[in-house]
Amino acid sequence: MKFFVDTADVDAIRELHDLGMVDGVTTNPSLILKSGRDILEVTKEICSIVEGPVSAEVVAVDADAMIAEGRKLAGIAENIAVKVPLTWAGLKACKVLTDEGRMVNVTLCFSANQALLAAKAGATFISPFIGRLDDMNIDGLELISDIRIIYDNYGFETQILAASIRSANHMSEAAKIGADVATAPPNVIKAMAGHPLTDKGLAQFLKDWEKTGQKIL
Ligand code: E4P
Repeated sequence: MKFFVDTADVDAIRELHDLGMVDGVTTNPSLILKSGRDILEVTKEICSIVEGPVSAEVVAVDADAMIAEGRKLAGIAENIAVKVPLTWAGLKACKVLTDEGRMVNVTLCFSANQALLAAKAGATFISPFIGRLDDMNIDGLELISDIRIIYDNYGFETQILAASIRSANHMSEAAKIGADVATAPPNVIKAMAGHPLTDKGLAQFLKDWEKTGQKIL
């Protein structure tokens, strides 16, 4: 499973990238707001750090305007994936932009039918939002599983990009289901390293080492 980082925080992206943890980046208007930076400028900087797909989201709601914004965003760098919402207009924009050879990430997907339409429209990525479904007491991981079955049944090449990930558990479950990509905030990726038994075991080892009176360096 590829790891995308769900942030527009350049320092956080750089830190994870240096560890080989970043196969791509996803941003959205809320994350651009949080960064406090200009969308074109920050996206360009992210694209200079990360070789893989960097999603930049359109904000228009009609298809022609989405296409125009998508073309502008795609002009930032070769590795831009234009992010469009899963609306009828978004699907139209997806078809036009993918026919032009651009990567498109169809976002805000909350049902298997929506994912089926995105694949038919040629989406490079479909972004089902796990956490926001869980927030409504609907099993977000089940949606990932349903889309996996449907795409495999018919050989759709659209990549399943598990999004709205809130916990390390979401990451391993998405990987077990066979999501192609998971995008998570930096803190979730870091939390994947944590385990209480690791902490406990390390504390014991350090305590015993102290008693040996030895030094390695
Ligand atoms: C995906 O591309 C979105 O940017 C993101 O995963 C949304 O996550 P949230 O529901 O935590 O805002």
